[in-house]
Amino acid sequence: MPSYEWLFDIKDYAWPNDVVVNVPDDFKKGISGKIVASHKAVALVAYLRSLKEVTLPDGKPVPIFLYGKSDAEKTAAATTSGKGAAAKPQFDGEALYATNCQSCHQGNGEGLVGAFPALKGSKVVLDDNPEVQVTIIMKGYNGRASEGYGVMPAVGTNNNLKPEEVAAIVNHERSSWGNNSKKVTAEDVKKIIATFDKPETVTAKK
Ligand code: HEC
Repeated sequence: MPSYEWLFDIKDYAWPNDVVVNVPDDFKKGISGKIVASHKAVALVAYLRSLKEVTLPDGKPVPIFLYGKSDAEKTAAATTSGKGAAAKPQFDGEALYATNCQSCHQGNGEGLVGAFPALKGSKVVLDDNPEVQVTIIMKGYNGRASEGYGVMPAVGTNNNLKPEEVAAIVNHERSSWGNNSKKVTAEDVKKIIATFDKPETVTAKK
């Protein structure tokens, strides 16, 4: 980054409200006197500080009122809508995806450029072997940092997702947005989780 010397004034002495910049001698280029931020520098800093950084989602479940209905509400709706209403699956992958994944990967599975990768057409999701996909959900992921993506938290573990719920989410990803890969069962998910290194458990002494 170049220096912006023209944003600073050199004064023999500083006034009480002046912002004095303590430049190390090596960088002073022989200047003697006080290096003081000009009005322009002060205005520029005030402007930068007024810009609010957008808070990125942290992977915590979003309130149900934002996307979709709770499983309980859906079951109630299905029961009251009379005979012939299709039985709702017990674990609704679409609703679970909305609560746990959509804030980052978006409802259309296309993610957000520069922040969250697309799940639509993702090699991980299209792989018939669900090992990587399940591991990413349970342990988080940081494999694509060089492409500018952030870190995915261990959403499945943090949100206490059951194997049945993980399977429902995995299958939702595998069958949505044009994706079409092999479905998984809760048993498949359990087997993958069983291969993880167990975290050290602290057992209270009796
Ligand atoms: C807080 C934001 C966030 C949430 C919530 C989140 N992810 Fe991610 N996800 C990411 C980021 C960021 C990456 C890329 C990480 C990297 O590689 O550096 C990623 C990567 C992935 C990948 C790999 C895609 C590829 O092709 O490389 C999959 C699959 C995935 N997420 C699935 C999920 C599922 C399923 C959920 C919900 C259970 C979920 N994510 C929730 C942020 C999130």
